[in-house]
Amino acid sequence: MSHLLSVDALSFSYGFQKRKFFKNVVGNPALVDVSFELAEGESLGIVGESGSGKSTLARLLLRLLQPNQGQILYRSQDAFSKAYKRRDYAKCVQLIFQDPLSSLNPRRTVLQTLMEVLVFHQKSAPKKNIQAQAINLLSEVGLNESSSAHYPHELSGGQRQRLAIARALAVRPELLVADEVVSALDVSVQAQIIQLIQTLLKEHELSLIFISHDLAVVQQLTSTTLVMFQGRIVEILPSEKLDQARHPYTQSLLKAIPVLDPRQRRTHSMCLDREVSLSGCPFLSRCNISSTRCQDDIPPLINIGKNQKIACWNAE
Ligand SMILES: Nc1ncnc2c1ncn2[C@@H]1O[C@H](COP(=O)(O)OP(=O)(O)OP(=O)(O)O)[C@@H](O)[C@H]1O
Ligand SMILES: [Mg+2]
Repeated sequence: MSHLLSVDALSFSYGFQKRKFFKNVVGNPALVDVSFELAEGESLGIVGESGSGKSTLARLLLRLLQPNQGQILYRSQDAFSKAYKRRDYAKCVQLIFQDPLSSLNPRRTVLQTLMEVLVFHQKSAPKKNIQAQAINLLSEVGLNESSSAHYPHELSGGQRQRLAIARALAVRPELLVADEVVSALDVSVQAQIIQLIQTLLKEHELSLIFISHDLAVVQQLTSTTLVMFQGRIVEILPSEKLDQARHPYTQSLLKAIPVLDPRQRRTHSMCLDREVSLSGCPFLSRCNISSTRCQDDIPPLINIGKNQKIACWNAE
């Protein structure tokens, strides 16, 4: 089966410099040997603690950063090849940020924001047609036509996120990358935005990469979960089988999900914010199932059953 997206041995360091006659400057590694695939129509959740490289991966997927090693294939074509024009790639893959206020132009009204994108991608379309499409987009994301004259600062957080989603949808992308899009919203608005994304995925047969700290949201919205730790993938598994996670880091994330009922409250056997190991498995200093092998060798990501991969020497 051909995949919509194939990420192969992707590595990226901030500050990396390739030098001709001297040793390369290594910089600060944010992604190390990341490989995964996304089928058409699939929704993939990416979870991991702060600094685990989720947004860096999103920026690479959007071609905002260039990898130091490895490649990204979109429909079997190298996403970074010169033949692949930025505009053509942007028509396929769109990003939504956590903070739409920073990515929306404060001088453009809601309608102008949407029309600007539509005009950019449909240069010859008549203005009336563009306006009709913009109004149609507003209703698709549940914004009132009355809000079309508002500026971004006049909208609520939820409305702004709806506008950011509408702007991403304006080019009719195939893949949506959502980076912490509901993290800054209160719980009820969060639920509405999640429901909106679910509806849009079905209606437009979109593929989704959903980045979040919140395992519960990822489980609700995605079919596959990818868990990152210190720039590496430590586990990939079906979201509906998260309770069968085998990597000790994924298990500790699951235990960290708050439970309201005090009788069901879980106990932590592992501290999540302890320092990182300098050699061997990056999870070593926090791990409660480690062995001597873990001190010397970094475990590779291997298949352990249907649709489940794990990077751990001792999880069998
Ligand atoms: N512009 C930058 N310059 C240098 N280092 C950076 C830059 N952006 C991120 N980093 C570093 O790269 C690593 C990964 O950061 P990234 O933002 O991808 O993590 P994240 O998983 O998205 O975290 P969060 O959940 O807090 O958003 C971190 O160590 C971070 O300090
Ligand atoms: Mg981030």
